[in-house]
Amino acid sequence: VTLGEPWSGYVGQVQEQLTSIPPSRLALLALVNLPILAIIFNVLYQLLPKDRSRPPVVWHWIPIFGSAASYGQDPIKFYRDCAEKYGNVFTFILLGRRVTVTLGIEGNNFVLGGKHTDLCAEDAYTPLTTPVFGKDVVYDCPNELLMEQKKFVKFGLRTENFRAYVGMIEEEVTGFMKNQDHFRVFQMNDINEWGSFDVLDVMSEITILTASRTLQGREVRDHITADYAEVFADLDGGFTPMHWLFPSLPLPSYRKRDIAHKKISDFYINIIRKRRESNVGLEEPDMISSLMDQKYRSGRALKDHEIAHIMIALLMAGQHTSSATGSWLLVHIADNPDVGEALYQEQVKHFRLPNGTWRTMEFEEIKDLPILDSVIRETLRMHPPIHSIMRKVRNDIPVPPTLGAPSENGTYIVPTGDFVWSSPAVSQLDPRVWKNANVWDPTRWSDPEGVAAAAGRAYENSEGPKVDFGFGLVSKGTESPYQPFGAGRHRCIGEQFAYLQLSTVVTTLIRQVELKLAGPLPDPNYQTLITLPKKPRNILYRRRKFD
Ligand code: HEM
Repeated sequence: VTLGEPWSGYVGQVQEQLTSIPPSRLALLALVNLPILAIIFNVLYQLLPKDRSRPPVVWHWIPIFGSAASYGQDPIKFYRDCAEKYGNVFTFILLGRRVTVTLGIEGNNFVLGGKHTDLCAEDAYTPLTTPVFGKDVVYDCPNELLMEQKKFVKFGLRTENFRAYVGMIEEEVTGFMKNQDHFRVFQMNDINEWGSFDVLDVMSEITILTASRTLQGREVRDHITADYAEVFADLDGGFTPMHWLFPSLPLPSYRKRDIAHKKISDFYINIIRKRRESNVGLEEPDMISSLMDQKYRSGRALKDHEIAHIMIALLMAGQHTSSATGSWLLVHIADNPDVGEALYQEQVKHFRLPNGTWRTMEFEEIKDLPILDSVIRETLRMHPPIHSIMRKVRNDIPVPPTLGAPSENGTYIVPTGDFVWSSPAVSQLDPRVWKNANVWDPTRWSDPEGVAAAAGRAYENSEGPKVDFGFGLVSKGTESPYQPFGAGRHRCIGEQFAYLQLSTVVTTLIRQVELKLAGPLPDPNYQTLITLPKKPRNILYRRRKFD
C-alpha cells in the first residue's frame, strides 16, 4: 500500500518522534495506556460480527470486569434490563467468567431440569462450598453420591422427628423472649410499652438456636456459646460472593474460614466418636444419629468426617435461607397489622385453651392453617433467599428455540465452560404472571382458581407423577413460576423442616406480642449471597394483653 504525499510525511514525523523517546519511557507510556487500549480492543471486539449460534453478550466497557458492577448492585434489575434488550437468553461477563442467563419459566426449566451430565452443580458451587463444608460431601463428590447423601438426610428429616421438633422450637423461642436483651421491654411485663429489635439479628439467633436444638442435636445446642458464635461467624465469613469468585486468597477471611472449618469439623467428629464409644440411645432424635446408621449403596457406612461435613453443610444451607425468610416474614407481618391480627386469631381459634394458656401445635396441624401457610408462601414468592441458581456447562448445549433463538430456524448453543444461571426470583416477581407482583398480598394464595394456587400445584406436582432422582419421590416442579426451594434433582431437602421451623417461630412470637414496623420497608441487600433486608430493619413489639 502506498500512502499519498501528505500522509507519508505525517507518518514519517510520528516515526521520528517515537524513536526520539527513550525505550524505558516508551514502555512506561504503553503500560499507562494499556487499560485504555484494552477498553478500545474490547469495544472493537464487541462490534465485530459474532458467531450467531452464541447467545448475545451484554454490552460492557471494561474487559474481564464486564457487567460485575450492575449485576452486583441489583441482580434482579440487571436481569430484567438485559431481558428487555436481548431477550430471555443472554451472556454477561463477570470478572472473567462467561455467565449465560436463561429467564422465565422455560429458562428455569432449562437450568433446573437439565441433565446433570451437561449442566453440573458441583463444578459451579465447589469453589465456594468445599472449603466451608469440607471434603467428600455435597459438591465435592460425584452427583450420584450427593443424591445418596440427600437420601440419608431425608431419613433424618422424617415426620416422626418433626413431631418432636415443634415443642423444642417453641421452647427455644419462649426461652429466647424471656432471656435475651432484644426483648427487654417484653420481659418488663409492661403491656403498654413498645420495644424494638433488629429483625435479622433476632431471626439469625433464633434460627441457629432452633436448628441446633432439633437437627443438630443436644451437644451442638449446648455449645452455642459466645466462643462458638465467633467460630461460626469466621466460617460464615468464608461464604460470600468474593469467596466464590476467588476461592483462595492470602487474606484474613480465608485463613479464619479454614481454621474455623477445622475446629467445627473436629467438634462434630468428637461428638460422633463419643456417641460410638458410649453406645447409649438418645432421648431426642437428631441428624447425627440418623447419619451414623446409614450406609451407601456400596454397603459402606459413612465415615466420621463425612457425617461431620454433612452436618456443617446442613447448618450453612439452612441458617441464612431460613433466617432471611423469617426476617422478611416478620417485616411484612409488622407492616400489615391486620394480617398479624388474622394470624393471631387463627392461633387463638385452634390452640388457645379455656384457661388462657396455649397448646403446642401438632406437626400435622400446621399444614391446615391457611393464613400461616399463605404468609409464608407469599414471603417466599417475593423474597426467595437464593436469587440465582448456578450450573456449569460440561458439554455444549442447545437452548430450546422457544426460549430464544438467533433466527427462525436457528438455535443458540451455550458452550462448554460457560456458567448457566436461572433466577426463579424473576419469574416469581413477573408482572405478566402475577397480579400486583410487587405487592405482598397473602390473600392471593386463598383463591383456588388463582394464579398462585396453580403455581403452587405445579410446584408440588400435586396432580402429576413424582420423580426419584435417588433421594426418594419428589415433585419435579421445574415448570412452575414459583420455585423458592429450587426444582429437579437439586431441589432443597430442607423445605419441610424450614416450613416447620418458620411456622413454629412466627406463631410462638405472634402469640406473645403485637408487631409493627419502625420505619419504611427495608430494601433487599444483594451484596450477600442470600438476599437479606438492609438496615434499618427494626420491628416494634408490644406484649399482648389477654382477656
Ligand atoms: C438446595 C432454598 C432451607 C438444605 C436448595 C436450593 C434452593 C434452596 C433454591 C436449590 C439450589 C440449586 O438448585 O442449586 C432454600 C430455602 C430455605 C432452605 C428458601 C429456607 C427457607 C434449607 C434447610 C436445609 C437445606 C433448612 C437443611 C436442613 C439444602 C441442601 C441443598 C439445598 C442440602 C442442596 C441440594 C442439592 O444441591 O442437591 N435450597 N433452602 N435448605 N438445600 Fe435449601
